[in-house]
Amino acid sequence: MSREVTLVGLAELSAGVVRARLLAEHDRFWDVDTRSLHDPVWFDQFGGFGVLARSCDGLDVGYLLGTVSADRLAYVHLLTVRDDRRRTGLGRRLVRRFDAIAISTGARVVQAVARPEDAATIGLHTALGATVHLAPDRAGPGQDRLVLTRSLQR
Ligand SMILES: CC(C)(COP(=O)(O)OP(=O)(O)OC[C@H]1O[C@@H](n2cnc3c(N)ncnc32)[C@H](O)[C@@H]1OP(=O)(O)O)[C@@H](O)C(=O)NCCC(=O)NCCS
Repeated sequence: MSREVTLVGLAELSAGVVRARLLAEHDRFWDVDTRSLHDPVWFDQFGGFGVLARSCDGLDVGYLLGTVSADRLAYVHLLTVRDDRRRTGLGRRLVRRFDAIAISTGARVVQAVARPEDAATIGLHTALGATVHLAPDRAGPGQDRLVLTRSLQR
C-alpha cells in the first residue's frame, strides 16, 4: 500500500494551503492536540525540510516537519501517518526522506522528542537505531519526554 504513496517536498507546494489542509484533518493524524505545534514557520521558513506523503488519489496520508540546526543537528519536529495508513512502512519512508535532506545539508545526528506513552513513535525511531534518553519535566512540571537520538553517519 505504501508504494501507492508519493513523497513530495513541502517547498514544492503552497505551504499555507497544505498547512490548512493538514489542520482540517488534524484528528485523522493525531491522538493528542498538536495544533499549536503547527506554526507557519515549519511550512514557510523550514518548508525545505518538510515532506508530505500523498496517495495516488490525492489524499494527504502523512507528513514530517523538521529542520537542521547550525551545529548540524537534524530535528524531527512532527511526524505522523494518517490513522488508516499506519503500519505500511510510510513512517519509515518519511524519516528516510528527511534523513537524506538532512545529510545533504551536513547533518550528522537526528533527534526527535516523544511522549513516554507514544509507543508507535518510540518504536519507529528505535527500529531505525535511535537511542532513548529520559528528559524529566521537559514539557513542564511532571511532563517528561523521551529524546530519541540517531547517528546519520553512513
Ligand atoms: C509513529 C507513526 C508515524 C509511525 O508511522 P507508521 O507508518 O505506522 O510506521 P511504519 O509502518 O513505517 O513502521 C516502521 C516501524 O516502526 C515501528 N512501529 C510502528 N508502529 C508501531 C507501534 N504502534 N508500536 C510499536 N512499534 C511501532 C515498528 O518497528 C515498525 O516496523 P514493522 O512494521 O516492520 O514492525 C504513526 O504510528 C503515527 O502517526 N502515530 C500517531 C502519532 C501521535 O498521535 N502521537 C501522539 C501520541 S502521544
